[in-house]
Amino acid sequence: MGGVFNGEDLFTFPYTFHGFPDDLDAFMNEVAIKENVYVYEKANTLSRIIGILDYSIVEVAEYVTINGEEFHHVKLDKETDGFVEMGNLRSPIDYRLGIARVNEEWEITFFSSWRLVKEEDFMKTLILYSSKYGTTETCAKMLMEQLDGQVEIFNIKENTKLDLTQYEKVIIGSSVYIGKIKKSVTKFLENNESKSS
Ligand SMILES: Cc1cc2nc3c(=O)[nH]c(=O)nc-3n(C[C@H](O)[C@H](O)[C@H](O)COP(=O)(O)O)c2cc1C
Repeated sequence: MGGVFNGEDLFTFPYTFHGFPDDLDAFMNEVAIKENVYVYEKANTLSRIIGILDYSIVEVAEYVTINGEEFHHVKLDKETDGFVEMGNLRSPIDYRLGIARVNEEWEITFFSSWRLVKEEDFMKTLILYSSKYGTTETCAKMLMEQLDGQVEIFNIKENTKLDLTQYEKVIIGSSVYIGKIKKSVTKFLENNESKSS
């Protein structure tokens, strides 16, 4: 990604920092860093493509991780939202560097390693589910879309080994068959009993 001149004596990288419109909230909006960035209906690259971004700016509601794949949950307009693969969007206040000409020499005048973050950005929630016919899975994904902060979601069957210490909240969903929650959930709870304080 290139940078831009801000007058003759200041150059900032990347262009997404200096060129970002003043009237947009830099915490809430991000820039598509190339053309043909797909917006998917769900956080899944096999789901329907509902929009294409060409170096455009979109409002980002949250970051989500589903079975290890990271997405930005974006709002295309008041009624439409979708998901963009991580890496295709960049926050204007992500890593940025400024170099200025001082006495005919170029010097680094600032380097910000990361943007200021809101408290809820640190809040990480894990949703685990086990589902036989898909109802619990649908509910878990609906819940994910309602939660603020970073939300990761895993099907317990596929991912029984998880580091629970990195989450502030862990939500577990299971369907019930003949009075019992699913075996994979019981097993997971038994294996993680000591870490669930
Ligand atoms: C054979 C059978 C037994 C069930 N037993 C219970 C039960 O004991 N208690 C309950 O609340 N729901 C029971 N249900 C309802 C399921 O838990 C419910 O349909 C659930 O949404 C299925 O979720 P899943 O598709 O994620 O597996 C039962 C369903 C079936 C087909």
